[in-house]
Amino acid sequence: MKSVLRVLRGEALATPPVWLMRQAGRYLPEYRATRAKAGSFLDLCYTPELAEEVTLQPIRRYGFDAAILFADILLVPQAMGLELSFVEGEGPRLRWPDGNRDPGRLRPVDEVDEKLAPVYETVRRLSASLPAETTLIGFAGAPWTVATYMAAGRGTPDQGPARRWMFSDPNGFVAMIDRVTDATIHYLSRQIDAGAEVVKIFDSWAGALTPPMFERFAIRPVTRIVAELAARHPGIPVIGFPRGAGALYRDFARESGVQAVALDAQVPLGWAREALGGVALQGNLDPMLMVVGGDALRHEARRIRDAMAGHPHIFNLGHGITPDADPANVDILLEAIRG
Ligand code: CP3
Repeated sequence: MKSVLRVLRGEALATPPVWLMRQAGRYLPEYRATRAKAGSFLDLCYTPELAEEVTLQPIRRYGFDAAILFADILLVPQAMGLELSFVEGEGPRLRWPDGNRDPGRLRPVDEVDEKLAPVYETVRRLSASLPAETTLIGFAGAPWTVATYMAAGRGTPDQGPARRWMFSDPNGFVAMIDRVTDATIHYLSRQIDAGAEVVKIFDSWAGALTPPMFERFAIRPVTRIVAELAARHPGIPVIGFPRGAGALYRDFARESGVQAVALDAQVPLGWAREALGGVALQGNLDPMLMVVGGDALRHEARRIRDAMAGHPHIFNLGHGITPDADPANVDILLEAIRG
């Protein structure tokens, strides 16, 4: 069985499987070339041959143990009817139709599905073209993180607009989260139908929630997604990533039903092994080390590998690799982990 799937079933391997968040991205010259050919980031996401190509690039170059579908978490709100654009150097912009933030007007699941069909085609192509030992990971944003972009229309440092909406109009906010959750269940289910062997749920802004709101808006929707996927696709593992959750990682691991939890770089590994005992762990190298390289990188990579020895562990970063990372540092990392 593929190494990533073995770990997700609870096995501790002597050499942990490795992949990197954002492994297909701007730090790679071949990615930049394909993206230029596509014209825009969104054209790249919606052109299956090109999305397949950029997904495969880091697998060819480094032989990672997993490939993650090339797409974006914001394709779901776009398919639900919001206007999405990426402003060069500034990040995403989302606009509600007529500027009216009414969750009741979001498109229903079958219409969402039609818009996302090219993504399923990318998954189908990958499941045929990936090396036999490479695990194919599908993904979606967690409803809370997607909602932070829907509320603000852009990335924000503190998720202020979403927090304001959540506290001042909880019913309206819950209605939106519920719609996003329904669409996400369907989206992930179709990725699995198309060949995804694992799915990962990115809750990049989970760290902005108070404990009661974390329970309600991070744990509860993800629990519903995991339960529904388990009913439709028994045996397909789910990786949850409640980034920045701190001590709440424990509640997330215990309650959500995920098979694995991705750790950000701030989580102490000894604590995680004890407190999150029942799940496999992924992470958690500081992405800055992929910029810095050298002995600092080797040392930290081995510290993490050794701290996780004997526990089901997938080696990864604590967040995405950044555009200023040096591709040669990935070779140093792999040598430190596998060599
Ligand atoms: O290799 C992979 O990890 C797979 C593809 C992937 C992308 N985005 C491609 C991408 C995945 C899994 C994501 C998830 C994603 N997208 C998240 C959750 C993970 C995280 O990083 O916290 C979030 C919050 C987004 C939303 C998003 N997409 C933002 C805020 C931005 C702009 C910031 C930036 O890095 O430029 C994007 C754009 C984006 N998504 C790029 C890539 C490769 C860069 C776009 C480009 O090529 O110009």
